Amino acid sequence: MNILILGSGGREHTFAWKMTQSPLCNSLFVAPGNSGTAQIAKNLDLNVTDFQAIKKAVLEHKISMVVVGPEDPLVQGIHDFFLNDKDIKHVSVIGPQKAAAELEGSKEFAKEFLVRHNIPTAAYKSFNKTNVEEGYAFLETLNPPYVLKADGLAAGKGVLILNDLNEAKTELKSMLVDAKFGEASSKVVIEEFLDGIELSCFVLTDGKNYKILPTAKDYKRIGEGDTGLNTGGMGAISPVPFATDDFLNKIEDRIVKPTIDGLKKDNLPYKGFVFIGIIKVGDDPKVIEYNVRMGDPETEVVLPRLKTDLVEIFQAIANETLDEVVIEIDERAATTVMLVSGGYPEGYEKGKEITGLENVEGSIAFHAGAIEREGKIVTSGGRVMAITSFGNTYQEAIKKSYQNIEKLHFDKMNYRKDIGFDL
Ligand code: AMP
Ligand code: GLY
Repeated sequence: MNILILGSGGREHTFAWKMTQSPLCNSLFVAPGNSGTAQIAKNLDLNVTDFQAIKKAVLEHKISMVVVGPEDPLVQGIHDFFLNDKDIKHVSVIGPQKAAAELEGSKEFAKEFLVRHNIPTAAYKSFNKTNVEEGYAFLETLNPPYVLKADGLAAGKGVLILNDLNEAKTELKSMLVDAKFGEASSKVVIEEFLDGIELSCFVLTDGKNYKILPTAKDYKRIGEGDTGLNTGGMGAISPVPFATDDFLNKIEDRIVKPTIDGLKKDNLPYKGFVFIGIIKVGDDPKVIEYNVRMGDPETEVVLPRLKTDLVEIFQAIANETLDEVVIEIDERAATTVMLVSGGYPEGYEKGKEITGLENVEGSIAFHAGAIEREGKIVTSGGRVMAITSFGNTYQEAIKKSYQNIEKLHFDKMNYRKDIGFDL
């Protein structure tokens, strides 16, 4: 089978790395891909939201499965686009249809879904520019810190957590009235602050059945000790040591089952990954958010631990036979450390040559914001490369990642040296 992966990050390199190991995969294409995917698949110079160009490539390369990495094409309805076009409706698309992708596309939609299906989450109310004053009044009823979320997609930047009531009011106004995050903040969800430790739970579903993948924890802040600005993720660990069997059972019973049942009840067609951001408050899990795709860099630790053929799993998702698949997981821990461009998540330079990759031993270098140019591998984004390792413990794994990072270099390379510090 010929397969196309959409996306260009470390997540997509990891998908490609895993899928090329499958005997079911003939030719693998990645659009637009990066220097890592170029080494194991064929990159296609396409934009992930240019559906017509994707259709053309699918027909030209006789592609029968499309695996969607990022959320944008899903929220814009790529799966529906395929189903509604007679030339490509036979192609399996891994990712939910538009109506279900709203779980990530709209925070308000997700909160309504959670409440409707009795899934534990923070109390909330949502506001728009016609009722800003009511928003101020609601803030006054809460205790700090105040959590303000732009309703729509804001590239991971739309959540503000503020200690000061007046600042929270000012920010609410700036989001609703001054369009701080553009159209994405024309509605704002204000919610109760939950105090606890976070983890991510990944679920595969074919719309009827589900399978739970290993948990992971990512490190979102740029600075050591979880300080500074939010990033896409600076590193990750799987499994999460504090996710005991008892806690995982609670997650399955209280969150995963009602989520999958809720999708069915609400007629939200879903074939793909459900990424549930969870916070452990006391001994209880609560949902922070849904994403309708895999996480990045969580993928770089979750997929390497998956022993089962990923293409076989995707076929089962397409055929709605996921219940027949046995998911086998490597017992070892996996860790990844993200190398980023100096300055990220604010302004940074690109085009810096990355050296030392040939010396990496006992770890896997998943390329993210890196491309090939004139025979050299150079940086092309903020998050550049994820160095993944296995170990009997996460401490052993992380040590290996750091040892290999010593061998890598690019101008102004930065990374967190404390991944796992809080566990
Ligand atoms: P989200 O985009 O909804 O995942 O929010 C981004 C980050 O903000 C999360 O990963 C949490 O660290 C934090 N966050 C979101 N909602 C809450 C909440 N209700 N209480 C505490 N922290 C939160
Ligand atoms: N690492 C968080 C995310 O992919 O959204």
